[in-house]
Order: sequence, then structure tokens, then C-alpha cells
Amino acid sequence: MKASLIAGGLVLSLLLVVPELTARDEQDKYEPLPRPTNAQLNIPTIAQIMQEAHRCRTNYIGQVRTQLGKSDTDWSEVEKKSNDLVRMGQLLWLNNPKKGGRDSWEMFTSVYVANASLLADAAQKKDKPLALQYQKNLSGMCINCHKAHK
Ligand code: HEC
Repeated sequence: MKASLIAGGLVLSLLLVVPELTARDEQDKYEPLPRPTNAQLNIPTIAQIMQEAHRCRTNYIGQVRTQLGKSDTDWSEVEKKSNDLVRMGQLLWLNNPKKGGRDSWEMFTSVYVANASLLADAAQKKDKPLALQYQKNLSGMCINCHKAHK
């Protein structure tokens, strides 16, 4: 009885020690892969994102504003474009601006994603005043971000 308890204890401690040793070995061997470049990942540039999200035919932010201005708002359209804006914000975050520091860029792009996400939530709830508020917050970001990073 006692012997089997001791033997059991031995096996248990071996089981605990062995994986720990192998894990440490593997950690020593581990070398992080270099981060692929944005070009390798096909991540669009800031200028391309600006054109897609804020200008041209796609102009997601303008299309959201147009729909919210209508009495018969197409909410599925607002929701779709808002989700596009969330994606645009995430892609902006992955870029590095030519001007300005990384901390400031992460702040602006995170706030952008936050506003776009809240806009998408408001669209899902078909809450017009709230959606208008977040659309306004987003459009109000252009000048400040350009001052810092453009
Ligand atoms: C998170 C920061 C940020 C926000 C928010 C932002 N921009 Fe920009 N924008 C930039 C930067 C940085 C550039 C310069 C890109 C470059 O030339 O590399 C730029 C460039 C542009 C360009 C020129 C693109 C080109 O083809 O060269 C336009 C147009 C533009 N922004 C429109 C807007 C509008 C409209 C808004 C608001 C709805 C806005 N941007 C919001 C950072 C931002």
C-alpha cells in the first residue's frame, strides 16, 4: 500500500518534471519568424485605404451618412459599410504613417476602430441618433489625424 503510494508519487513527479524539461528545451531552440512585410501580406497602403473608405465611389463613410439622412434608411447597407469601416481601421493600424510616432498612430487608429464598431452596433440596433453620433465622431477624426500624420 505504502510502496505503491511512493511509486505513484515518483511516477507523478516524473510526469511533472519531464514535460517541463522538454518545454524548456524547445523554448531555447525557438526562434521567432520575421514579421512579413505589409506588401507580402497584401495589406493596402494608407493612401489606398483613404481612397476606399473616404473617397471615390466606395466612400463607405459618406454612404453611411447618406443613408442615415434618409427617412427610409437602408439599415443593412449602413451595417455593411460600418463593418467595412471597422476593417479599414484595422488595416490602417497595420500600416505605419510616414509622419508621426507609432504611439499616436495606434491611438488614432484604435479610436477609429472603436467608433466604427460602435457605429456598426448602432446600425444593428437601427438606432439612428446613436449611429449619427458615431458617424460624426469618425468624420471628425480626419483633420486631427492628418495634422499629426499626413
Ligand atoms: C488614423 C488617421 C487618419 C484618419 C482618421 C483619416 N486620415 Fe486621411 N490620411 C491619413 C494619412 C497618414 C494620409 C497620408 C497617406 C500617405 O500619403 O501615405 C492620409 C491621406 C488622405 C487622403 C489622400 C490619399 C491619397 O490618395 O494620397 C485623403 C483623400 C484622405 N486622407 C481623406 C480622409 C478623410 C476624408 C478622412 C475622414 C473621413 C480621413 N482621411 C481620415 C490619415 C488619416
